[in-house]
Amino acid sequence: MSDNSPNFFMKEFSNDELSKLLINKVAQLKAEKMYTLELNKKLEENVSKLEETACQLEETQEVLKNERDNLKKEVKRKTEELLKKEKLSAIGELAERIAHDMRNPLSVIKNTVELLKRNAKSSNSKTTKQWAGLDRAIYRMSHQVDDVLDFVKLGHVTKKPNKISVIFQDVKARVVLPGNVKLHFPKNDLTVPCDADRLEVVFVNLILNATQALDKKSGNIYISLSEESNEVALITVRDTGPGIPKKLISKIFDPLFTTRQIGTGMGLPSCENIMEKHGGTIDVSSTRGNGTTFLIRLPLKTEWDNLEQIGNKEKLTDYITSVSG
Ligand SMILES: Nc1ncnc2c1ncn2[C@@H]1O[C@H](COP(=O)(O)OP(=O)(O)OP(=O)(O)O)[C@@H](O)[C@H]1O
Ligand SMILES: [Mg+2]
Repeated sequence: MSDNSPNFFMKEFSNDELSKLLINKVAQLKAEKMYTLELNKKLEENVSKLEETACQLEETQEVLKNERDNLKKEVKRKTEELLKKEKLSAIGELAERIAHDMRNPLSVIKNTVELLKRNAKSSNSKTTKQWAGLDRAIYRMSHQVDDVLDFVKLGHVTKKPNKISVIFQDVKARVVLPGNVKLHFPKNDLTVPCDADRLEVVFVNLILNATQALDKKSGNIYISLSEESNEVALITVRDTGPGIPKKLISKIFDPLFTTRQIGTGMGLPSCENIMEKHGGTIDVSSTRGNGTTFLIRLPLKTEWDNLEQIGNKEKLTDYITSVSG
């Protein structure tokens, strides 16, 4: 008869049999208790693992959320950048054509005015004033053609080692400053791989902007030059003008943004364009009432120097020699 049979306890047991049965039962119960304890332990372990996983899941969710937010921001920034580039490129094409078409008639006007001035029989204060007005108008148009319209074009820059002091000398010769403005160039010098003509345009634009911001008030424009690191030259153009209001500062590099009645809003986008082509940057820092500083960062090394740094220059020279035969 088995232990589970319903008639099991109807059988009479001897004391020995009963104690054996009891010992077996106790052993079985102990084993079951051990098993239950083991199960409990495993369950507890699993619960804590689950809790840990839930925590990790929460953390991962948080990281993913941040990643998604960053990606959204990056996409927005890139889209804006792309739109700006497209806008600049469309304006650039048009501007290049206008600059090309304006250049010839403008030089005819310039030369004719010079001739008329020379041939003029009499000059009283009224005519002197009129000639000066005409000169200013021609100067403005030339600035638009040479410094703004023509330099939005998308061609490549030709980088050569140039002394910044030489570029500054050309800038000095090119800008006509009113008496109320004093321009201070740095005493030190640096040689930077750049397109001197294009860089000159950047400085002329920044100096003209500062002069226009100063309006008729007297003020200073300070230019500084330093090595920010082994790889970057930092040039700053600081004026003591009225500064740029906070709400406008993010717009000043947008093509066609201007606060001036006769501005085209192409000066700073052109500067930014030129700097990008140099692998450099242009930034602004300004507070209302405390002047404006433009910060220009230019790489001190060319792509060629960087190749040397990563040890590929010799290989490339060998390759070019072998190809050119
Ligand atoms: N140094 C400065 N101080 C104050 N505001 C400035 C300064 N430089 C630029 N700005 C602001 O940025 C705007 C855009 O400058 P940007 O040179 O692009 O165009 P613009 O000077 O208005 O016209 P242009 O195409 O003739 O240069 C200016 O209209 C002016 O509001
Ligand atoms: Mg300008």
